[in-house]
Amino acid sequence: MELTYRPRRLRRTSALRQMVRQFHLSPLDFIYPLFIHEGAESEPIEAMPGINRWNLDGLMKHVGVVWELGIRCIVLFPKIKDDLKSEDGIECCNEGGLIPRTIKHIKQEYPEMMIMTDVALDPYSSDGHDGIVNQAGLVLNDETVSILCRQAIVQARAGADLIGPSDMMDGRVGAIRKALDQEGFQDVGIISYTAKYSSAYYGPFREALDSAPRIGSTKKIPKDKSTYQMDPGNAREAITEAHLDQQEGADILMVKPGLAYLDIISQLRKQVNLPIAAYNVSGEYSMVKAAAQRGWIDEKSVVLETLLCFKRAGADLILTYHACDAAKWLLAD
Ligand code: PBG
Repeated sequence: MELTYRPRRLRRTSALRQMVRQFHLSPLDFIYPLFIHEGAESEPIEAMPGINRWNLDGLMKHVGVVWELGIRCIVLFPKIKDDLKSEDGIECCNEGGLIPRTIKHIKQEYPEMMIMTDVALDPYSSDGHDGIVNQAGLVLNDETVSILCRQAIVQARAGADLIGPSDMMDGRVGAIRKALDQEGFQDVGIISYTAKYSSAYYGPFREALDSAPRIGSTKKIPKDKSTYQMDPGNAREAITEAHLDQQEGADILMVKPGLAYLDIISQLRKQVNLPIAAYNVSGEYSMVKAAAQRGWIDEKSVVLETLLCFKRAGADLILTYHACDAAKWLLAD
């Protein structure tokens, strides 16, 4: 054949392929989620092989390992004891609570590690929702936002670098920005869960924190989060949310879940110039782990391919439970 252009020419050797590769992965792309609890021991999370609920000691050692691997940002999720949960989730504003105490410890030992937090009521809510549920079963927006502002301030005061509102209440980014500024935390950033979909992929996470909606109590509790998290059938709405978050002062936008929502990442990339993060959520992690354990897929290849594809879609940052393994594989290559 007389072909002028033969695309295979640039695929011939590994060196050549690497030279012309458009997107690359680095441990600096990762934000690593960590689960913590008050227990005396660290314990494995059954639905997420390789992931633990850390006690303080275990956590501090693990953060050291994470830093050594070149990862520069972690996000903390607390499992709160049942007796500290309430309808308004007010434990989230406790300055002596698990999250602020842990942030202070980490900052003492690893002052340069970036700490992201999650702002929402679900770990603290006896109803298992991100906001306050009234007697009629409605999740109250404005009342919830005022508690979230207090939660954000407590986290900032403890030393958090990036506040991550994951609650999907309307107007929360602007309200949190204002509250942080009023308290003198102008330099604390907001990484907003901009397009957070009402997704079944969060299952293992809710098991890890025992934070699933608690139906069956005397109150009428919505069985899922679809009155505040986005409908998977919507794409344009994600752009509306992105513009709102940008106007309200978000520093980084996030799309969640990641894998089934790569189109949303790519659309947001075209609409805004802020950095975009993708959340490779618990269900996505557990599916890979389960198949790899059965020998049905090659874990390393699947994970590195998946993470690279987030970059290709337009993500600058990736929240992923694979962060440590991926960083090890990248460093060894
Ligand atoms: C809480 C929150 C959730 C996740 C992150 N923050 C769960 C939810 O909204 O029910 C899920 C993360 C994951 O599945 O890995 N607001």
